[in-house]
Amino acid sequence: MIDIERISELARQWAKEAGRISVERTKHPLTVFCKTGPSDLVTLVDEEIEKFFSDKILAAFPQHGILGEEGVNKLNPEDFKTVWIIDPIDGTTNYVHQQVNYVISIAVVHQGESLLGIVYDPTRNELFFAQKDKGAFLNGKQLTLQTAASLEESLICTNLIWSTRTEKFGLKDVLRELPLRCRGIRMYGCAALELAYVAAGRVDAYLSLFLNSWDFAAGRLLIQEAGGKITTLQGDDLPIFSKSSVLASNVGVHPDLLSLLQGEPE
Ligand code: IPD
Ligand code: CA
Ligand code: CA
Repeated sequence: MIDIERISELARQWAKEAGRISVERTKHPLTVFCKTGPSDLVTLVDEEIEKFFSDKILAAFPQHGILGEEGVNKLNPEDFKTVWIIDPIDGTTNYVHQQVNYVISIAVVHQGESLLGIVYDPTRNELFFAQKDKGAFLNGKQLTLQTAASLEESLICTNLIWSTRTEKFGLKDVLRELPLRCRGIRMYGCAALELAYVAAGRVDAYLSLFLNSWDFAAGRLLIQEAGGKITTLQGDDLPIFSKSSVLASNVGVHPDLLSLLQGEPE
């Protein structure tokens, strides 16, 4: 039997501790490395926070698996019944340049089902939390999405505009159309935060061509538990451990956005 209440309490506590570490480290110069190129950054803090989670999780739950962006834990997550999916810092470019608009993202998946999602924004002390069938919350206040929004009245978040893949995947025309069909476009450069903002109704939708599971795992449950919808850009269910495109929104604009995207390959 999985003790989700204990996991949930510890995960929230660790998210806040990790948040404090991230803020503390910005008081001194950060050590920054380029991964695949100048727009793909990692800092020693990303690695430190993932190690922090890995140590805490394995001490409390030695039988659990961990899938983290920085690969601190090397074991195959598919070999475990319960897996923690962790992005130690989502929005590393913001963390390096701005020290705001970055989050810590944690999800717990049990036998292929998402049970827990936490997105913690340490600089605003905002903790977005969702537990399967228990609802989604922001600092303890329940999040419930309205269903009546129209595309014309919507704020849409996306990273598609600066993605070099947008043209390659035939989405250039959609992107030209999108700002004309909605109230405004927003880009925060932090997928997990943007998904949490969809769950909180601060933006109406988030679209992305390719995200890793650690970018969307926590946000997925937040949106579902808040009463929204999250799928691929084709309208299919998201995978648990692999990369995917993402279309997340309140249920009002999801069909409009899907039809706008219709016919476009992923
Ligand atoms: C990135 C951010 C960004 C998204 C990228 C992600 P990272 O994560 O979430 O918003 O557009 O696809 O890789 O590298 O800052 O953890
Ligand atoms: Ca990320
Ligand atoms: Ca990251």
